[in-house]
Amino acid sequence: MPRAHIALDRRAVIAPVRRRTFGSFVEHLGRCVYNGLYEPGHLSANEDGFRVDVVELVKELGSTTVRYPGGNFVSGFRWEDSVGPREKRPVRRDLAWHSLESNQVGLDEFARWLKLTDSELMLAVNIATRGILPALDLLEYANHPSGTALSDLRIANGTPDPHNVRMWCLGNEMDGPWQTGFMTAEDYGRLAARTAAAMKMADKDLELVVCGSSGSGMPTFGDWERTVLEHSYDHVDYISCHAYYQEHGGDLGSFLASALDMDFFIDTVVATADHVGYKKRSNKKINISFDEWNIWYLKEHMESEQPGDDGGWPSAPRKLEDVYSVADAVVVGNLLMTLLKRSDRVTSASLAQLVNVIAPIMTEPGGPAWRQTTFYPFSITSRLASGEVIRPVIQAPSYDTARHGEASVIDAVATVDENRAALFLVNRDQTEAAQITIDVRSLGSKRIVEAVTLADSDVYAKNTLTDQHRVTPSANKSATLADGVLTIELPAVSWTAIALQ
Ligand code: AHR
Repeated sequence: MPRAHIALDRRAVIAPVRRRTFGSFVEHLGRCVYNGLYEPGHLSANEDGFRVDVVELVKELGSTTVRYPGGNFVSGFRWEDSVGPREKRPVRRDLAWHSLESNQVGLDEFARWLKLTDSELMLAVNIATRGILPALDLLEYANHPSGTALSDLRIANGTPDPHNVRMWCLGNEMDGPWQTGFMTAEDYGRLAARTAAAMKMADKDLELVVCGSSGSGMPTFGDWERTVLEHSYDHVDYISCHAYYQEHGGDLGSFLASALDMDFFIDTVVATADHVGYKKRSNKKINISFDEWNIWYLKEHMESEQPGDDGGWPSAPRKLEDVYSVADAVVVGNLLMTLLKRSDRVTSASLAQLVNVIAPIMTEPGGPAWRQTTFYPFSITSRLASGEVIRPVIQAPSYDTARHGEASVIDAVATVDENRAALFLVNRDQTEAAQITIDVRSLGSKRIVEAVTLADSDVYAKNTLTDQHRVTPSANKSATLADGVLTIELPAVSWTAIALQ
């Protein structure tokens, strides 16, 4: 059995736990909104048509900020279509996902839904095919209290209080040829700078996110970030990162080590942003909004789905409905641990997405809503992580991966506040349980409050409509704490959370 030792020093603080790390993402894509969180005919629907059973699951998930309304969708979106009397809203073609958009859910309804889930809105504006003035109009509609044309329109539409949106994304994945209105880094950097400057003339305290590369595999990765920030550095606050992982060709070892790639990605973007900052002799730091991350079996979707496959322009088609395994959940848990470890510079993140579309929550029209395997590491981490993030010292065996080089079999991170410490651990070994000892003396913890593990003898086991509780976390009874040393056994391919008093 592999053995590992972890030392925790209360003084080795990385940064505060950022609540925005537990953000998520709702895009007008597939069944995320329509026949997902919104289904007026459903037994549990409220007066706005939102499913209350889904709201309950979102609250349990513990997501904080929600990025909206896209994604690729935003680059063809006219926000004016989606406010005002519903019967007057136009149906439009969404070129990004080759579907029809009814506009029955828009900013005002979605903001009401967010209130039910106690979440913060992070709004994306379309600067790909629209531009500065529509972005300013949306800002006025959303945030101005009253007494102007667009704030009074919002009030007339039934929303007296401003939405007071703090975080704004300046477009989405503008480097991707799949993006409606994609641009070169030069063109986008200039436009983003001008849009951001204008938005800050309206409200200097807005937090603006400029688009980074849509993935670290893009040929322009690095140069894109540098060029875009050279133009926009003084006007924006964040640069975005997007990363999706999947198991390729049965290489589970590499897949389980995906967090190494995320870490490298963050390092590279931080280095590039700081390089631009130093060149500008600026004291300001640009942080990362990791506003799309998840497991996505993209290769399989690309092979099986062609635009128009659904017979033209369907409404709310089943798209990107990945069903997640135990191994996927372990990787999601590990990616979230990485985001926590990088809380010094990653101060906002969004699991993509929230309902039905590469999501932790699934629904069936007229039927139930249930938790995917990936729901659990996210909800438990969001519930337990608080205070400050502590850097652990990990001594563990390692293994070679084809994609990410040498990977430690064990990964870990800890958080501590005045009353509680939490430890999050993964065992990437594919066959053997690992025996772990953790020196927690400096935390002053006296008692294990909770120890749960997600694992299964079948690492590809999944929760489905017909077997919704096939995979759930269970109490890890091997955990003991004596004389400041915690010992625990971690099953092969597992994710574990421990709460200490
Ligand atoms: O999350 C799904 C899609 O992935 C988003 O619309 C896009 O931004 C990314 O390519």
